[in-house]
Amino acid sequence: MSRLQADGLYKVFGRAPDEAVRRLAAGADRGELRADGTTAAVIDASFTVDPGQIFVVMGLSGSGKSTLLRMLNGLLEPTAGRVLFDGRDLTSLPARELRQVRATKISMVFQHFALFPHRSVLENAAYGLEVQGVPRAEREKRAVEALELCGLGGWAASWPDELSGGMQQRVGLARALATDADLLLMDESFSALDPLIRRDMQDQLLELQKRLKKTIVFITHDLNEAMRLGDRIAVMRDGRIVQLGSAEDILLRPEGEYVASFIQDVDRSRVLTAAAVMTEPERDGEGECDCPSVSPDTPVAEVCAVSARVPHPVAVRDADGNVAGTVPRERLVAFIGGQEPDDARPVPCAWAASASAKEAAHA
Ligand SMILES: Nc1ncnc2c1ncn2[C@@H]1O[C@H](COP(=O)(O)OP(=O)(O)OP(=O)(O)O)[C@@H](O)[C@H]1O
Ligand SMILES: [Mg+2]
Repeated sequence: MSRLQADGLYKVFGRAPDEAVRRLAAGADRGELRADGTTAAVIDASFTVDPGQIFVVMGLSGSGKSTLLRMLNGLLEPTAGRVLFDGRDLTSLPARELRQVRATKISMVFQHFALFPHRSVLENAAYGLEVQGVPRAEREKRAVEALELCGLGGWAASWPDELSGGMQQRVGLARALATDADLLLMDESFSALDPLIRRDMQDQLLELQKRLKKTIVFITHDLNEAMRLGDRIAVMRDGRIVQLGSAEDILLRPEGEYVASFIQDVDRSRVLTAAAVMTEPERDGEGECDCPSVSPDTPVAEVCAVSARVPHPVAVRDADGNVAGTVPRERLVAFIGGQEPDDARPVPCAWAASASAKEAAHA
């Protein structure tokens, strides 16, 4: 069962929202409704998030990301549609139960860390537990563990203003982790950070996720960030999800011009992996030698570096060491040049023909 499911979610702000939903369902877009003073923030959003997945919602400012997120934790009531969390319909839970789910099962991490300046780092990290009424000793123990997970073990007694922006954001993350919530909702959590710190936080989140296997919905307006973090990515435009898929789906099979224009600046060689370019071994025994090999999830850029040192196609080995495929150099070059690897066909060339005839004569 999926952990989280959005089922035909709509959020309309303004007059006659139900009528607006009918018009949107019939194909009207945001612009048509705006003329009447109605904002269609989210239009017909449907998706599922599996346990342990990082689901990224990516879109420009105003595309409806935060509104969607607030419906996922029940802070905003959908105008139409349902949110299922572990199979339970959040939209129809009584207010008290909904508050209980929100306090214990779901944690939010915002863009601005919202730390209390007059509370220590430890008290800040323990805040979610304090709200839940967890006794002091227990909450401090769990907060210390969460701070350690986030690399802040030695900072518990410090004040927030003694910490850098990245460290403050990690306290925000520790606060979310301390509550033991299964579902983390992260709204532009890294967007206020400098690029290097931001990258560091992305690495840390991926590292933590390997151990903790939370279910995470992560919102960003940065496609590179979406591609680094997301197991699946929803691209939003003007309230609608215009594509839903893996980073590879979006890069190799963009649906429509909007998504295609978005991916132009993405470095494909760092996002796509050996699995996306490999092919069946062409000859028996190919890849069975002791030359350096790569794993299916090695980024193409690193496969290039290996290819430069190996005199034949690079072997791609699975976790058991078996050859899952090979990557010939022509496929890599075609890929970096923006061609689909399968379209890479050598053209006839008189010079090459005479060179190989000479080689044959010498042999
Ligand atoms: N409470 C509200 N009342 C009226 N309109 C709203 C309300 N909240 C959001 N909107 C409108 O809904 C649309 C989507 O807003 P939302 O905040 O979800 O976008 P976003 O994708 O999170 O943008 P950003 O990247 O700037 O945070 C916007 O046009 C916004 O003005
Ligand atoms: Mg937002």
